[in-house]
Amino acid sequence: MVEDNGSIRTLSVDIGGSGVKAMVLDITGNPLTERTRLDTPQPAKPEVVINAIAVLAAAQGEFHRVSVGFPGVVRQGVTETAVNLHPDWIGFDLETALSKCLNKPVRVINDADMQGFGAIAGKGVELVVTLGTGFGSALFIDGKLVPNMEMGHHQFRKGKTYEEQLGRAELEKIGEKRWNRRLEKAIASLQSLFNYDYLYIGGGEAVRVNMQLPLNVKLIPNITGLLGGIALWRD
Ligand code: BGC
Repeated sequence: MVEDNGSIRTLSVDIGGSGVKAMVLDITGNPLTERTRLDTPQPAKPEVVINAIAVLAAAQGEFHRVSVGFPGVVRQGVTETAVNLHPDWIGFDLETALSKCLNKPVRVINDADMQGFGAIAGKGVELVVTLGTGFGSALFIDGKLVPNMEMGHHQFRKGKTYEEQLGRAELEKIGEKRWNRRLEKAIASLQSLFNYDYLYIGGGEAVRVNMQLPLNVKLIPNITGLLGGIALWRD
């Protein structure tokens, strides 16, 4: 039992298709440690990914609770999809398994949702997309999350999804110039669908965005994926 709430330390974990990252946050969500990273073990089955988290956790020092961003649909701590990890995640109770492994309370949400919490202002319609192995998305209305919005697997153009057209594999295939042109089309399409006040673009490949962005579109650093972890304990 922690007596002084102000000293509660939250281990924030971001599971990605290519890397697993971790960092400890203070009660207000500010980083207390350096971010550490391990390559996502392949094949990325639950047991080996949990082991990677345990290794990162051991090197992060003291913490009292754990927030996890997971690259798929998550409902009540159970992972329902994991397109870029492994089918063994379907129906896996990550919250319980990780909590047993680390002996700490754990909360799990979708990775883009967690990243969104680290980015939003909390007013109006705010949309977040993440560009990495996959294409993540999160929608917030006055700071309230519409959970598990999976735009990545929704049709974008030419019979292909946003993830098929803009994921890392496609970026490597078509190069930055064409990828940026496609992204510009995606931004226009999302603007006309959501009429958002702000769109935030994050994820590991956001650094490769190279265009004049509309005034209501902002690039966010990848560390935001971890900073959002504090929001999972707000209630
Ligand atoms: C998954 C999303 C995830 C995104 C980014 C997609 O393939 O379906 O849930 O947010 O990748 O990791």
